[in-house]
Amino acid sequence: MEKLAVYLVAVIFLSISATTVSGEEEAVKAKSLFEQKCSLCHSIDRPKSKQKTADAWKSTVMRMKNTNGAPVSDDEAKTIIEYLTENYGL
Ligand code: HEC
Repeated sequence: MEKLAVYLVAVIFLSISATTVSGEEEAVKAKSLFEQKCSLCHSIDRPKSKQKTADAWKSTVMRMKNTNGAPVSDDEAKTIIEYLTENYGL
């Protein structure tokens, strides 16, 4: 019985730390994707100097993609929108 409890605690602990690590990896990936894709036509300071709501970032990124021709996939656009909303959100 006691062993089971220790086992369960270990499993819970391991799954929590695994989530944290992959969360950090995702954040690093999102940041470098943003810096790479959003500095192709203008300086990265152009988006970095702004703060927008989630909806406004969504329409900005979709305008870069659909009107200005930014080479990002739908998935990449989503990642960048989430990154911008979290770090440059209003
Ligand atoms: C293919 C070229 C190109 C790429 C790649 C690009 N942009 Fe732009 N961006 C433009 C052009 C052209 C303008 C000016 C016209 C306009 O606002 O649509 C602009 C303007 C902007 C502005 C200022 C206007 C506003 O709405 O605040 C922001 C912010 C911006 N871009 C963010 C981004 C982000 C974020 C990315 C990455 C997803 C990105 N851009 C990638 C071409 C590009």
